[in-house]
Amino acid sequence: SEIPLTLARLNGRHVIVTSGPTHEPIDPVRYIANRSSGSQGAAIAAALRDLGARVSFVTGPASVPPPAGVEVIRVETARQMRDAVEAALPADAAVMAAAVADWRVTNASDSKMKKDGSGRPPALEMSENPDILAWISHLEQDRPRLVVGFAAETNDVLRHATEKRLRKGCDWIVANDVSPETGIMGGQENAVTLISQHGPEEWPRMSKAEVARRLADRIAEEIG
Ligand code: CTP
Ligand code: CA
Repeated sequence: SEIPLTLARLNGRHVIVTSGPTHEPIDPVRYIANRSSGSQGAAIAAALRDLGARVSFVTGPASVPPPAGVEVIRVETARQMRDAVEAALPADAAVMAAAVADWRVTNASDSKMKKDGSGRPPALEMSENPDILAWISHLEQDRPRLVVGFAAETNDVLRHATEKRLRKGCDWIVANDVSPETGIMGGQENAVTLISQHGPEEWPRMSKAEVARRLADRIAEEIG
């Protein structure tokens, strides 16, 4: 169509991208969340779109707007995100860039919780959220040919990310060091290591848009 054929290496391919944080309600006015702007996920969706892919963009409440030209599915909680990903299947590839809350509050209140004057905070009961990356990686039917996860770590990045790739059963992991001294969190740049079946590959520090283009390019090599 409007994309030059030489660039349309993902024409006819469907890719699911998760992005942003999830919000897990405590009560109608409070929630638990991860720190995530959603900008790396949005950039990846845009880069895949630019290569001609049909993109299902499943996003939690992010601070950056979703890119144009993708199908946007807005969710709030991890469980809604899992259900939306399931509804978007089948797909040729899945890129899980969301910062999913690991726990949800099981005794969330339907009305605003009030201080009771005792000085004691309420006790929150929590349970673990579904692991969307591990779930999709282990699907017997409809497993995307390529499943890509992220690992944002503050220490022993390569070791944690390598273990995570094996534990979750995904094909690739994009590992990054988000320790405060890197200044990565909340910024426009990223420094990542792509861990594939061929081992780790360290990319130089570059803009999030450039990381996204390079990742989309590698995805096109794999499934295009
Ligand atoms: N992920 C997911 N569903 C979850 C948790 C994580 O899909 N419930 C995905 C993220 O989108 C990311 C990858 O798994 O692609 C790694 O997330 P991370 O939080 O680093 O992994 P966890 O297994 O939650 O490990 P940790 O205890 O380090 O948080
Ligand atoms: Ca986690």
